Amino acid sequence: MHSMNKFYITTTIYYVNDVPHVGHAYTTLAADIIARYKQLLSGKENVFFLTGTDEHGANIAQAAEKHGKKPKEFADEVSQRFADAWKSLNINYDFFIRTTDPRHEKIAQQVLQRIYDNGYIYKGVYEGWYCVGCEKFLTETDMVDGKCPLHPTREAIYQKENNYFFKLKELSKKVLSKIEQHEYTILPQERYNEIVSRLKQGVEDISISRAGVSWGIPVPWDSNQTIYVWVEALLNYYTAPHFLPNKSSFWPPDIQLIGKDIVWFHTVIWQALLIAADIKDLPKTIFAHGFFTIDGQKMSKSLGNVISPKQLVDKYGADGTRYLLISAVQFGNDGDLSIMKFTAQYNADLANGLGNLISRVAKMCEGLTFAPFKSPTIADTPLIEFEKSFQFDVTLKFIFEKIKACDVLVNEKQVWALKGNEKQTVLQTLVDDIRVIGYCLQPFLPETADKILKQFSGSKISVEPSLFPRLK
Ligand code: MSP
Repeated sequence: MHSMNKFYITTTIYYVNDVPHVGHAYTTLAADIIARYKQLLSGKENVFFLTGTDEHGANIAQAAEKHGKKPKEFADEVSQRFADAWKSLNINYDFFIRTTDPRHEKIAQQVLQRIYDNGYIYKGVYEGWYCVGCEKFLTETDMVDGKCPLHPTREAIYQKENNYFFKLKELSKKVLSKIEQHEYTILPQERYNEIVSRLKQGVEDISISRAGVSWGIPVPWDSNQTIYVWVEALLNYYTAPHFLPNKSSFWPPDIQLIGKDIVWFHTVIWQALLIAADIKDLPKTIFAHGFFTIDGQKMSKSLGNVISPKQLVDKYGADGTRYLLISAVQFGNDGDLSIMKFTAQYNADLANGLGNLISRVAKMCEGLTFAPFKSPTIADTPLIEFEKSFQFDVTLKFIFEKIKACDVLVNEKQVWALKGNEKQTVLQTLVDDIRVIGYCLQPFLPETADKILKQFSGSKISVEPSLFPRLK
């Protein structure tokens, strides 16, 4: 059991077959905001934020081949693209795991060996359809017109090979009872319902090794097979804190952020693997966010509408992008993104809203002296909303309502026309509110929050360049 104030948060690890897009950025950003919030609450050393890349399997081997590269060489390059994207978005992770890290490979093998020794793995013949794009076995009901619905441009592959199987069927009863007894939490509720009903319909054992895929971690007791990529990928959440120095006390994860397409893996297979390996403490909360469409359409390479984080950061800056992405949808729901909407919202909320308020008030403060800043307690600020199931989009809305309220105050009191004591009093209120706004923005817009706090925390307030220049 890890100590009460330690907090471990993970994102899914991203496939390196392709470069980062806004969907990846969304998961990572959400995790960053939660991690920064927890740091504010209990100190940097008590938070462990893990993200990284998922680098094995047929899909990646094929992508590398297409680029005329060796898989590892290709993985190095694309993995770096993810790390760069996170840097440009000011993502403050504690560790970036790569599943080709030998330290991951070693512990993943050890865990699998334990599952084998515990009698949960047996040899069998796998026969059926496989989607390389998903790295997933398909049932007849998964398929639409004989193809994987998520990868309609690729052929599903029919396979028959000797594999090792995992006794998921037997373990699923334990998993279901743990879910129903709320030993761990699946959010939002809709995803919980889906998983419970699927578990009740009955579950088959799954193949957890591949004979035909050489780009992977060898099965420890049979070097002719590699570990099924999803199995070792899930294990990253366990291996990283166990191979890094002084991190094992962070186990288990407090919250794991994922997309809604991979809930089964993260709420059933993952827990079954841990139970089979005798790892007692299970992750506490799995939160699945929704999917983005772009201008009403599925985001896809063939439609040419994929939005990259870089495209957004170039246009809106790191904090602008963070704001637009996080406020785009209610956490957990699907949502539609559009550059036109983004620009309009950037101008309304950031340039005319937050940015304008700051420069307006700063100008009016020239020559005056203010009472010093007392750092607020989180409980007295909109940040406390965070404790309610991580509704950070809601928290952000509260903060922006405070910004609007400040604007209303400036206009109603016509502060620019006031004089003497009256002016001083209203401005002191505004300065105090802006300080709280700056404080609360720290997890969301870290650079902007720092600037605001620097500018407004002393007794004299300086006039600084505008935070968010208007965009055309
Ligand atoms: N490598 C696996 C995860 C292994 S975790 C042990 C994987 N990688 S992925 O790169 O394909 O996807 C990563 C995440 O991006 C998933 O959580 C997925 O839901 C998310 N998204 C992919 N497309 C998305 C949108 N269009 N919108 C929002 N998120 C989406 O799956």
